[in-house]
Amino acid sequence: MTSSPTRQRLGSCAWLMRGFAVAQAPALLAALQAILARAPLRHMVTPGGQRMSVAMSNCGALGWTSDRGGYRYRADDPLHDRPWPAMPAAFQQLAGDAARAAGFDGFEPDACLINRYLPGNRLSLHQDRDERHFGHPIVSLSLGLPAVFLFGGAARGDRAARVLLEHGDVVVWGGADRLRFHGVLPLKDSQAGRQDDLLAAPGATGDSGHELLRGCRINLTFRKAG
Ligand code: SIN
Ligand code: FE2
Repeated sequence: MTSSPTRQRLGSCAWLMRGFAVAQAPALLAALQAILARAPLRHMVTPGGQRMSVAMSNCGALGWTSDRGGYRYRADDPLHDRPWPAMPAAFQQLAGDAARAAGFDGFEPDACLINRYLPGNRLSLHQDRDERHFGHPIVSLSLGLPAVFLFGGAARGDRAARVLLEHGDVVVWGGADRLRFHGVLPLKDSQAGRQDDLLAAPGATGDSGHELLRGCRINLTFRKAG
């Protein structure tokens, strides 16, 4: 285990836990690589017909999808109508541990959305509201290049805090903060040197998983959707 991560409050029920998953990242990335071999990253289309710049996939019983018909969770990957890859135990463990550390006991996600950002990619302000109910928190893990996360309020126009998310950081929001608007500013590509340092970080084992992070950021968002 690494030393105890620092917890930073982002709201009454929202926490940033810096470095929370740094030690587990190599194992998580190895599992992620196997998932993406079966359910490749793809650019979904918004209901309005726009191609999303962030490439996405899923694992778990349910996967978040978008197409001209709307946003929804599906049990099957629409690329080939087969179930999404199962959520690895290491993902479940990490999500449950992070939720508990933020004050949410018993979190058992059934959906993990995988977001891959290349330089210039962004995610506009939105609420996570396609889940069946909002009694469970959102657990969001950042890997790879740093990004600026926007954490807004209950209304789209509310002022949003800018939070730098780095490799291994976890954000958890639930309860009164569950429906806060959030998004990601365009990813910068000026971090090449830093990324090299990150790849060589002590504790890294193997290299196959880390290939996934070269020149990009990957975010895993865990939810109880069904
Ligand atoms: C999301 O809101 O689904 C992803 C947020 C992030 O990439 O940090
Ligand atoms: Fe979101």
